[in-house]
Amino acid sequence: MRRKLAAGNWKMFGTTASLGEIAAIAGACPTPGVDILVCLPATLISRAQAVAGCVALGGQDCHAHGEGAHTGDISAPMLIDAGASHVILGHSERRSDYRESDETVAAKALSARAAGLTAVICVGETLEQRQSGDALAVVGGQLAGSIPDGASGANTVVAYEPVWAIGTGLTPSVEEIGEMHGFIRRALRERFGTEGDAIRVLYGGSVKPANAADIFAVPDVDGALVGGASLKAADFLPIVRALEGAAGQ
Ligand code: 13P
Repeated sequence: MRRKLAAGNWKMFGTTASLGEIAAIAGACPTPGVDILVCLPATLISRAQAVAGCVALGGQDCHAHGEGAHTGDISAPMLIDAGASHVILGHSERRSDYRESDETVAAKALSARAAGLTAVICVGETLEQRQSGDALAVVGGQLAGSIPDGASGANTVVAYEPVWAIGTGLTPSVEEIGEMHGFIRRALRERFGTEGDAIRVLYGGSVKPANAADIFAVPDVDGALVGGASLKAADFLPIVRALEGAAGQ
């Protein structure tokens, strides 16, 4: 059985004053049926460790190389050193802001794996691609290109984040989420066998306390990658509770 995962992505939000939110989220510990992860700005990771309790910490990107002359970049060993156990890779904002390709994401994932980080690899179609009926094909291509060989439940998490649902308040229907998660599950199983079955698949895109329980009731949804609603414990904790409810079913 895959354990449920409630993951937050703080994106480019958060300063020292925000550490109290991590402490408040950690107030939910222990959470026996659910793992909690918060992916922070790199500047906060090492200081968050002191207050994180059972909450795992992650970065939001890493370079494909462990070190080198790459001004402004951060490497997987640096994230480990700061206290991270996970790193988000291939988020749609990086794919669009920095033109990250599937090949780049796969190279970063290999670097993350070599350092001992679990890669949270993001995939998802644009609204145009969904409306033209290409969503499954697009996500299938991203999975094939962005996840390196040798993926396992320990080194990889997949996050399905439809681009048009991120930060918009829009979400796919539960039928559409179920169709996509079933498709991703089959693709992982076909390519990676029993290890593919152990890879958790999260839904991301406008997950809020009000819609979390409905999304978590969808088969093959192992949790969520939450943006805006992860910044405040008062919003994130009800989502964690909804996932605990789904884990108990
Ligand atoms: P929102 O939850 O703010 O829509 O963001 C989703 C996301 O991009 C998480 O990585």
